[in-house]
Amino acid sequence: MDNKLIELINEKTPIVELVSEFVSLQKAGKNYRGLCPFHQEKTPSFFVSPEKNICKCYGCGEGGSPINFYRKIKNISFQEAAEELAEKAGVKIEKTERQKDPYESFYQLMQEVKEFYKFNLKNSENGQKALDYLYKRELSDEIINHFDIGYAPEHSDALYKLLNDKGYQVSDMIKLGVVKQKDDGSYYDLFSNRIIFPITNAKGSVVGFSGRTLNPKDTIKYVNSPETVIFKKGQLLYHFNEALSEIRKNKQVVLYEGFFDVISSYKAGIKHGVATMGTALTFDQVKLIKQFTDSIIIAYDGDDAGVKATLQAIHLLEKVRLKTEILTIPEKMDPDEFIKAYGDEKFEILFGEYVKDPYQFRYGVYKKGKDLSNANDITTFKNQVLEMLSYADPAIQNLYKSRLAKDLNVTADAFEIKTKKQPPIPQNEVIPKKEVHKISNKFEKAERYLIYAMLRSKQDASHIQARLKTSDFVDHIQSTIRILIDSYYKEHDQLNLEEFLDSLTSEQRAFAQSELFKDIMWEKQLDIDITEVEHYISLVKTANLMRRKTYVKATLEKEEYKNNILLQEFKMLANLK
Ligand code: UTP
Ligand code: MN
Repeated sequence: MDNKLIELINEKTPIVELVSEFVSLQKAGKNYRGLCPFHQEKTPSFFVSPEKNICKCYGCGEGGSPINFYRKIKNISFQEAAEELAEKAGVKIEKTERQKDPYESFYQLMQEVKEFYKFNLKNSENGQKALDYLYKRELSDEIINHFDIGYAPEHSDALYKLLNDKGYQVSDMIKLGVVKQKDDGSYYDLFSNRIIFPITNAKGSVVGFSGRTLNPKDTIKYVNSPETVIFKKGQLLYHFNEALSEIRKNKQVVLYEGFFDVISSYKAGIKHGVATMGTALTFDQVKLIKQFTDSIIIAYDGDDAGVKATLQAIHLLEKVRLKTEILTIPEKMDPDEFIKAYGDEKFEILFGEYVKDPYQFRYGVYKKGKDLSNANDITTFKNQVLEMLSYADPAIQNLYKSRLAKDLNVTADAFEIKTKKQPPIPQNEVIPKKEVHKISNKFEKAERYLIYAMLRSKQDASHIQARLKTSDFVDHIQSTIRILIDSYYKEHDQLNLEEFLDSLTSEQRAFAQSELFKDIMWEKQLDIDITEVEHYISLVKTANLMRRKTYVKATLEKEEYKNNILLQEFKMLANLK
C-alpha cells in the first residue's frame, strides 16, 4: 500500500467518529477529550483533534492517525487496520494475496459457526435449557453476549447443512474440527448438546470452541475443538483479545484456570482476566502476555492441582522476568466458587489482601503439612527453600534465611546458598538482548545512521546496498533489518514506517524502538545527505578492516609469523587507525 493511499484512508476516516466507538468523548474547545483507552486514568488526558484528524494521549503518548489508533486499539496489523478502515470509508484498495491472512476463509467459517451456536442458545427448546443453566450460574444476558456463549443442538447435522448451504467446503469443516464423517459417509456436527464457548486468537478471530456438558453426570466436562492450523491451545489464551483494552488500562493481566473463573471475575468487575485451557502455561502464552504487559496475577484454583500448576507457572514466569503475584483463594475454592459463595466485593478485596509474591507463596507451600520435628521433613523443607533462593536477589536471600532459621530454630549462618544464574531464557527471546559482539560506539552509530538513511530514501538505500555487503554490518539485527528494507523497496517506492515496523518480528520491533530510533536525527527528523552517507559507509568499512586486522594478528601470533600471505595482509592493514 503506498503512502498516498494511506493518507487518503486516514483523510476519509473522521477521527472523532472512530475514537467514539471506543471512548466516550466530551467537547473541549476545538478538540474532544476522554479517558485514555490505553492506560488507567481518572482525569481525561486523551485528546482528539478533528481539525488535524489525529488523537493523542498526553499521559502515555499513545495515539496518532486514524489507522494507527485503530490498529492499536484492535491489536491488528497496520495493513489490516488500513484495509478495514478503507472498506468503511469506501476507499477502493487492492488486497494482495501476500498481505491477506492465509487463514481468512477459516476465520469466516468459524465466525458462521459461532453465530449458529449463539442463535441456537436463544432460539431453540433445548437452547432454553442451556440458557437456564447459565442463568442459574448467575450469568446475565449482557455477560452471555460479551462472551459470545452459544449452544450446540443434540445429535444434529444442522451446522453441517448450514455451512454447506453457504458454500463452505466440507473438507474445511473437517479440517477445523466442527464437522465429522460417519462410517456410512454422512456428516454430523462435532458438538452435541453442549454450551459453547468460542475461543478467539489474539487478533479476535474465532479459532476454536469448547463445549460444556449440561449433565453433571457426564464424564467429559468440556469437549474442545481438536488442534488445527488455527487452533493451538498452547499458543492461545481464553478471552485475551477481549480483555486487551482492560489489560492495557490495568497494566496487568489475571490468569485463571477455567472459563467460568474468567467469566465470574468479569462479572465481579475484574475484567482483565484470561485463562489457559486445561494445559500448563506455555512459553508462547507468556510471550503473548509480555507483548502487552509486564505484570501478571496468577489466580489458579486453591486445590492441590492448582497449587502445583501455580508453582510451574512461577518457574516459567521467573525466567522471562514478568512481575508475578499470586492470588491465594481460601478454602481450596476456585475463583468462580469463591465469588458465588462470598460475592463480588469480597472477591475484589481478595485482590488487595490475599496477593502474595512468588517467594511468600512458595515458602508457604513448602512449609505446609511438614512436621518440623521430623528430620526428613526438615531436610526436604530446607532444600526446597534453598533451591528457591538460589536464583534470588541477596536481599531476598537474607530475608528468607532468617525466616528459615527461625522456623528451624538455628542461626541464619547455618545455611549456605549456592547462588545460580537466572535460568536461561528459552529461545525466541522475548527481551531484546544487547548484541554480544561489542563494537565501539562510533561504528555502531554509523550502522544506525545508515539504516536511518535507508528508511528515508529508496535512493540512499540502493546506494548503500551497492557499497556495503550485508555482512559488513556487525549487529545481526541491524543487518537483518537492512535486508528487510531492501525487500520492502522491491515492491514500494517509498517506505511507510508504520507499515514497515509492522512487518517485523516483535523482537526486531522492540529493538528498533529502543535502539535504532534513539538518536537525535529521529527526534528532529534531520536530513542526511550523500556525503554523510558516504562518511558512514567508510566508517563501517573501516570497522570491518579493523576487525580483520585483529583476527589476522591473532592468527599470525598463533602461527608464529610463518604465514606469508597473512603477513602481507597484516602489513597492509597496519597503518589503519
Ligand atoms: P475446570 O474443571 O476448573 O472448569 O477446568 P471450569 O471452567 O471451572 O468449569 P466449571 O466451573 O466446573 O463449570 C478448568 C479448565 O480446564 C479445561 C477447560 O478449559 C476448563 O475451563 N478442561 C476441563 C477441559 O478442557 N476439559 C475438561 O474435561 C475439563
Ligand atoms: Mn473450575
